Amino acid sequence: MTIKTALTYDDVLLVPKKSSIQSRREVDTACKLSRNINLKIPLVSANMDTVTESQMAIAMSLAGGIGIIHRFCSIDDQAKEVAKVKRKQNIVIDNPFIVSPQNTLTEVKEKIKEFNCKSFLVTDNSQVLLGILTHRDTIFAKDDKTLVRELMTPKSQLITAPYNIGPEKARELMNNNKVEKLPLVDDEFKIKGLITATDIVKNYNNVNASKDSKGRLLVGAAIGVRDDFMTRAESLIRAEADVLVLDIAHGHSDNELDAIAKIKTRYPSVELIGGNIATAKAASDLIKAGVDAVKVGIGPGSICTTRTTTGFGIPQLTAIFNVSRVCQKHQIPVNADGGVKQPGDLVKALAAGADTVMMGGQFSGTKETPGPVITYRGRQHKISRGMASLTAALSRPDAKEKLAEITPEGVEARVPYRGPVQNIINQYIGGLRSGMSYGNARNLEELRKNAEFIRITNSGIRESNSHDNEVL
Ligand code: XMP
Repeated sequence: MTIKTALTYDDVLLVPKKSSIQSRREVDTACKLSRNINLKIPLVSANMDTVTESQMAIAMSLAGGIGIIHRFCSIDDQAKEVAKVKRKQNIVIDNPFIVSPQNTLTEVKEKIKEFNCKSFLVTDNSQVLLGILTHRDTIFAKDDKTLVRELMTPKSQLITAPYNIGPEKARELMNNNKVEKLPLVDDEFKIKGLITATDIVKNYNNVNASKDSKGRLLVGAAIGVRDDFMTRAESLIRAEADVLVLDIAHGHSDNELDAIAKIKTRYPSVELIGGNIATAKAASDLIKAGVDAVKVGIGPGSICTTRTTTGFGIPQLTAIFNVSRVCQKHQIPVNADGGVKQPGDLVKALAAGADTVMMGGQFSGTKETPGPVITYRGRQHKISRGMASLTAALSRPDAKEKLAEITPEGVEARVPYRGPVQNIINQYIGGLRSGMSYGNARNLEELRKNAEFIRITNSGIRESNSHDNEVL
């Protein structure tokens, strides 16, 4: 038997190239997440329950990347997290919150709390627009029994527009009439949507955000391949997740191939990322089955113990090479998932053939991750855990009965609290831009084309890190 060598990030460096790039601002970090989804930066937050729920997904998407909402919760809860991202910013709100003219102020106050929204359209039972109720209409009202129809601005005083008005014309109309809300109606005055001044301004301010055709932030959601996965997929598609990610440890399996076929047969237009894999054969089988991107990584993660528990895995850089050589032929994007510890690893992953990189550990401990900040020995921390760790397994519904069968493939860690995730994103994208200038690459395709890797020794690794001084 011949045993091949496989490498990972620390084993290599990129050879500097003669560069005509004068400033880091000249480079473009645009990339493809999947067949039909483009991003401005190649960063994806991991579908782990200590990393990505709606808050993280919103921050990632605003920065030009994307977050994948984890699946370790009820179908309903996961779909709600997706919906929170889709509602965060949009040009057109397709299903605006409505109240009836017969609702009392008490009922409106309950809805304000429930939906965290202060303005409502007022409609009759057939969705015909009767008026609008804004914060100004309710804030000074004294009697909680007052009816909406007495408080609302009636339809005779409203400015409305057809559904297809478009952002530019809407902005003009709202500006000319000094209104903050523009209900969109059909010929029968039935409500079709709503445009708000806040959303128009947000849209102009966030030119780099990852947005869908309606100006809403992009978001992904993870699913499994067993039990109720089709019901989960259906709910997430209904909640308008932009991409589904098959989240299983060994993606090159009959279970996953069957799941891909089922999903693509029922929802042919859904963007589907298959994973996790680490070989060329796996890539070609998943592509044949119909995926729109693949996710690479068997065991490189910061909290993973798959390799020590099972003896299986492929060092991440070789895994990216193996997979991307097949994917490039089919124009299928590659996501490199796990093992990134510093910005240089991101540059190496992209140079080796990845289109985007998923990170868990590096985003953990930030303000946007789920879970509380805990103080330990006077310092603030958050918890990060592998999705196959013992504590993650114990938090699942049937854990107690199956306790003896649990073989963890991950660990739980305490990580320092790190403030807003944007700080981390800035470090990574700063490193990437700088790396691209060393590689004379104006875009990520040039980074790949120009890439020349050299293998280094332990002495090289030691030299690469700061050395022979006491780091402050
Ligand atoms: P990083 O290195 O960015 O890796 O923290 C994140 C990725 O790790 C994977 N993951 C696991 N792998 N056991 C594993 O073997 C686990 O318990 C586990 N939890 C997460 C996952 O692919 C994630 O995106």
